[in-house]
Amino acid sequence: MRTQVAVIGAGPAGLLLSYLLHQAGVEAVVLEARDREYVRQRVRAGVCEQPTVDLLTEIGLGGRLAAEGLPHEGFSLRFDGADHRIALTELTGKAITVYGQQEIVKDLVDAHEAADLPLHFEVSEVSLSSVDTSRPVVRYRDSAGALQTLECDAIAGCDGFHGVSRPSIPDGVLTTFEREYPFAWLGVLAQTPPSHEELIYTHHPRGFALHSMRSPDVTRLYLQVDPAEELAAWSDDRIWTELSTRLAVEGEFTLQEGPILDKGITPMRSFVTEPMRHGRLFLAGDAAHIVPPTGAKGMNLAVADVVVLSRALTALLQGDSSLAESYSDTCLRRVWRAEHFSWFMTTMLHVDPGADAFARRLQLSQLRYTASSRAAATSLAENYVGLPFA
Ligand code: FAD
Ligand code: DHB
Repeated sequence: MRTQVAVIGAGPAGLLLSYLLHQAGVEAVVLEARDREYVRQRVRAGVCEQPTVDLLTEIGLGGRLAAEGLPHEGFSLRFDGADHRIALTELTGKAITVYGQQEIVKDLVDAHEAADLPLHFEVSEVSLSSVDTSRPVVRYRDSAGALQTLECDAIAGCDGFHGVSRPSIPDGVLTTFEREYPFAWLGVLAQTPPSHEELIYTHHPRGFALHSMRSPDVTRLYLQVDPAEELAAWSDDRIWTELSTRLAVEGEFTLQEGPILDKGITPMRSFVTEPMRHGRLFLAGDAAHIVPPTGAKGMNLAVADVVVLSRALTALLQGDSSLAESYSDTCLRRVWRAEHFSWFMTTMLHVDPGADAFARRLQLSQLRYTASSRAAATSLAENYVGLPFA
């Protein structure tokens, strides 16, 4: 088999890249390890930056997003027992939209199926070779068990943090930058209306908590927990009690409880690999970088990468390699901005078990300054709603 671009992974990065390439007249084949239902149901990100919303709308995938997405013009920082609103739209003229990552993935899978674009689920034994030549090759076993060979002009490694693309690059080529945090997020999806119309990022002496949502009937909540914590130790009762304690505030607020539909623990790390390209293999999204989730940048960065990559690959296939050569540098500028912002939000809002009294006072001072200075709040808001794509 032959195609122009082999795309490894059908997360937001791989699916959006394949669709952008299709619109630019470039052929692609998407290979995904998991099955179709798993990919469509996986609960992850929820916040779309303004540039992400604008892009999906421009390419004709904004219909359900406009009808079902929840636009937000601000969110609360909750600490010292009070709410401090960050007025995103007043400060920046832009907004974010709450629309689950799996809804974007569903829209993209549906768009592939409607246009009859090659998207293969349940592939295994994916291996990449000849990536430093102009004729790379991907070998895999298809869902029927047959071994396949896919020859192509370029490979897009969009297979997430645990994929095969990044490890296929020879030793010595990549430099990685990494930071682990002494906490993780316990995330729950609950069948209950949101308790507040906006997101609430809470700093509490017992740890961080986040109130978010997916729809008028479904709430998404997160708790800072120890990275070694077992999910089995968190009964639904314990989760609700801890959320109520951390989200308590002066004035009107009652946390609405309801049946828990999904729960999971996610470790938190910052990770960047440089460069994001080796020969004809281009890394995009979580395959190249991870941010801690505070600030909601991961999926949006994946989108920003593939916007740059789709243009670079289209030009490369027409004989112009300049955008392919600058791909990594172009993306890394935005990646490092998002790394800094995510680290800033994470360290400002979580309780570090190793922090001394000096560090705790610095943290509180940063929170109070961010909440009370228009300049500081504007800087936070500008990063949160999303800087323009390159
Ligand atoms: P992925 O979504 O990981 O997709 C990679 C795909 O590759 C997967 O489908 C995988 O099955 C497949 N794959 C892996 N290995 C192989 C292989 N060998 N062969 C073929 N296929 C393979 N980001 C935000 O922007 N906003 C948020 O609000 C937000 N909140 C988050 C909350 C949580 C709890 C978590 C965990 C993440 C959050 N993120 C958020 C981050 C966001 O979910 C990720 O950054 C995003 O999924 C990255 O997309 P991707 O396509 O690069 O990778
Ligand atoms: C959500 C996730 C985030 O990481 C965040 O910062 C805000 C909201 C969410 O899943 O709704």
